[in-house]
Amino acid sequence: MITSALPYANGPIHLGHIAGAYLPADIYVRHLRSMGEDVLWICGSDEHGAAITLRAKKEGTTPREIVDTYHVEMQKAFTGLDISFDHYSRTSSPKHHEVAQDFFLTLLDKGGFEVKTEEQFYDEEAKQFLADRYIQGTCPSCDHDNAYGDQCEKCGKTLSPAELVNPRSTLSGSSPVLKLTTLWYLPMGRHEDWLRKYIVDGTLDDQQHHNSKEWKAHVLGQCRSWIDGGLESRAMTRDLDWGVPVPVDGADGKVLYVWLDAPIGYITATMEWCEQNDQDWRDWWQDPEADLIHFIGKDNIVFHCIIFPILLKEHGGYNLPTNVPANEFMNLEGDKISTSRNWAVWVTEYLEDFPEGSDAMRYVLTAIMPEQKDSEFTWSDFRDKVNNELADVLGNFVNRVLVLTKKYYDGAVPAAPTDEALNATDRNLLESLSAAPAKVSDLIARHRYKEAQLEAMNVARLGNKYLTEQEPWKLQKTDPSRTATIMHLTCQVVGNCAVLLEPFLPQAASKIAAAFGVSDARWMDARTDVVSSGTVLGDLPILFAKIDDDTVAAQVAKLGQKGDTSDSSNRDLMPAKDEITFDDFTKLDLRVGTVLSCEKVPKADKLLKLTVDTGLDTRTVVSGIAEHFAPEDVVGRQVTLLINLAPRKLRGIESQGMVLMAGTDDGGLRFVTPEEGVAPGNVIS
Ligand code: 2FM
Ligand code: ZN
Repeated sequence: MITSALPYANGPIHLGHIAGAYLPADIYVRHLRSMGEDVLWICGSDEHGAAITLRAKKEGTTPREIVDTYHVEMQKAFTGLDISFDHYSRTSSPKHHEVAQDFFLTLLDKGGFEVKTEEQFYDEEAKQFLADRYIQGTCPSCDHDNAYGDQCEKCGKTLSPAELVNPRSTLSGSSPVLKLTTLWYLPMGRHEDWLRKYIVDGTLDDQQHHNSKEWKAHVLGQCRSWIDGGLESRAMTRDLDWGVPVPVDGADGKVLYVWLDAPIGYITATMEWCEQNDQDWRDWWQDPEADLIHFIGKDNIVFHCIIFPILLKEHGGYNLPTNVPANEFMNLEGDKISTSRNWAVWVTEYLEDFPEGSDAMRYVLTAIMPEQKDSEFTWSDFRDKVNNELADVLGNFVNRVLVLTKKYYDGAVPAAPTDEALNATDRNLLESLSAAPAKVSDLIARHRYKEAQLEAMNVARLGNKYLTEQEPWKLQKTDPSRTATIMHLTCQVVGNCAVLLEPFLPQAASKIAAAFGVSDARWMDARTDVVSSGTVLGDLPILFAKIDDDTVAAQVAKLGQKGDTSDSSNRDLMPAKDEITFDDFTKLDLRVGTVLSCEKVPKADKLLKLTVDTGLDTRTVVSGIAEHFAPEDVVGRQVTLLINLAPRKLRGIESQGMVLMAGTDDGGLRFVTPEEGVAPGNVIS
């Protein structure tokens, strides 16, 4: 039973997603299928949670509209890169709501939750409780200004809203108040002992075959530090109107926490597939013979290694994950991938620019897969790998074998040589061929996709080298029998490439297989006669087009550009605030001011003290801009000033107004400066 993280249906899929949770799973699953194993791979759209509702608010539309759009868009990306899920579901379906509610009720029955009525932050303007991404404030750990209610993205610390310093609502910007509400908590602390046995010691005795010794070191490291840090209770419900309703009387306006409902989505998706395929879903989730493997990115580790296992165990009857081979992050051209800065390669855009480019991208992403540590994608490396490896080695080799076989034998594969006809070089080649499948299998089974692909490509390298060294073109006239041996063997090498490269390069593999008549070959089929003698070879298009420097430059230039509206809607803009009246607006007294002098406020990293000529008077304004401007940059500037703001003391200095600033996308600040020709005191309206 294989799952890949259900992506939030709130934006398009980029290469980082693919390299993290989808491509490795696809390779793993294709390999199992080729081995004839019983395997089911499901995925689907994660359609609940603040990721969706905030996006809807930002775009001025409904969550339903957002998830319907991206559910379709994301599937286009996956299909385009030949990501071969058996089933792709979605969590907003009625079926999933039912399954998730049932699961919740079972846990409730078993006493798996603690119900608490307590004070939570509430936005009086937006009339909504604030959790997760709805609330921001300063991180208690690293002082980052924009930490969220569930996590600080700067230092990675998991937070609860109550820990934020100076919390504010991301809906209205206002300071939240505290209000009573009821929440269902998962007391995770209760589960520490068995989790430690399951993950840290690998001694959980439940007759299943998870062996955490085989888990990736960075995954174990994260789990260990969570468990060692002590597991705190986590609320499993939210006061929101988008999600799976809490199925309890009197719980109106409450939904399940998205991280409770989403992983249950794996189970719902399995049920759907099984219904359509006349199978019993329990065979995949509850039969101890079945492995359960979750493919995810590293930001999802705690949810899959700790929280979901707790839910499964508490519910009872379910298998626990055998392995969670999380990948780390992939960076892009020297920077983190960022949706808001459009620093990303979007899969559907890539496929528009490279309509035949699925294999090429899969190959490069696998070659740099962030298996044990973060990695980096660059377009020049993409060009080099496509040109030097795919085109020059694999493409060139297959093409030479095909062309020569057509030329010498009208395309019919020559007969196999007798044993005596084989020389030492031939025998070495055959030995390597025989050994390759097990080597590649073993690496894939251990989630070492980079090395596995390299090993599979080595088969093509070996064939290419053999062909070049044996030089059949020099022998054809004088030694037809030796030539036939060489060509028969190189045809076998090509056939093996079709089988062993299929998990990595499904399109090229299927074209090669069709041309060399190996279409139904499986992984463990005999290695030395994959291509039958006498098979008439078909035609083969150029497998890999070379990439030129202009193409590289054009792709690099695209990064970070704000393209059309769909691109700009990816920016993390603050949502629009609620409507105000004209009278509200006229209450603001905005004036042109000139900064006469400026100095740092002692012992305050962020504050500058400005003396400003307002036309009416000269006054002091304390402004939190010291991280962006030196005092000398500020003196002499004309600024926009709010002069009727109630004075307040900052570090003992009374601030008598506020200088207006514009924030930039990269977190910088700019003065809002009037055009020339205005003087201090002029009214801004
Ligand atoms: O991080 C994410 O994109 C989440 N939507 C992953 C969910 S995985 C699972 F639990 F559904
Ligand atoms: Zn932090």
